Amino acid sequence: MKASFDFSGAHVVVFGGTSGINLGIAEGFARAGASVCVASRDAGRVDAAVARLRGLGAAAEGAACDVRDAAAVEAAMGRFHDAFGAIDVLVSGAAGNFPAPAAGMSPNAFRAVVEIDLLGTYHVCRAGFARLRRPGASVITISAPQGQVAMALQSHVCAAKAGVDLLTRTLALEWGPLGIRVNAIVPGPIAGTEGMARLAPTPQMRARVDRSVPLGRQGRAEEIAAAALFLASDAASYVSGALLAVDGGWLAAGVPLGLGEAAPAVPPAGPGG
Ligand code: COA
Repeated sequence: MKASFDFSGAHVVVFGGTSGINLGIAEGFARAGASVCVASRDAGRVDAAVARLRGLGAAAEGAACDVRDAAAVEAAMGRFHDAFGAIDVLVSGAAGNFPAPAAGMSPNAFRAVVEIDLLGTYHVCRAGFARLRRPGASVITISAPQGQVAMALQSHVCAAKAGVDLLTRTLALEWGPLGIRVNAIVPGPIAGTEGMARLAPTPQMRARVDRSVPLGRQGRAEEIAAAALFLASDAASYVSGALLAVDGGWLAAGVPLGLGEAAPAVPPAGPGG
């Protein structure tokens, strides 16, 4: 997809930006002329992503850090600010997911996803705040349909992403007066991502997902990147507090089957069972 927006001279930071949708977003901004910094947990993936972004002609830096660690996020954000100055676009996309029944996963499993998705988004936005260009900066969080519709085997993700949605809208209220816009992208099922591999691991499951999308197919990472470029651009200068579904109509259809079919719901016998 050809870049339709010019981000020459802009500084973009993408947490989670070393794979999948978030790497697609980082590449979209790199192609549009921005300098791009990426962070994720795996140092090898960080190095590979930085090399890819430089291969696209972008000035790029990376940092390995876990978004659950507020101090590590603060340190990475400081390095990114030192490298290219004030941040024009901040994307918070690090996420964790696996299908598991609410009563059948450990408290630590539930906590892991809430800490990565919700607390991680808070840590990234909080550390970014002091370094955002104002007025003019754009913050984009990456949510999921699970924030708006219940999905079996996804209680941890539903709880975390619903939190991300209202955190996003609350930051839009608090930071709007400073000229900072805050929006969420709500990606539908995106082909080739770790999330799809985990939630719909067989070709049959993925075919069923395709049939549940009004547009009849999974999305591409570059289609999410296009939405991020739009939200960060002047074309979206009056858009803040929005939850932008980029899902082929999936949410409008009510996510009819959900991805809950990916694994059988077999809660362990509890005190009552
Ligand atoms: N079903 C049930 N519980 C699971 C699980 C699964 N498929 N996978 C992990 N867990 C549990 C672990 O058993 C552990 O709980 P315990 O300590 O009580 O045993 C807890 O979750 C944390 O797992 P751990 O592997 O120690 O955490 P981590 O920080 O290394 O990994 C995850 C975080 C669990 C979210 C992991 O799935 C991950 O790293 N995901 C990142 C990539 C990803 O999910 N991308 C898709 C985004 S849409």
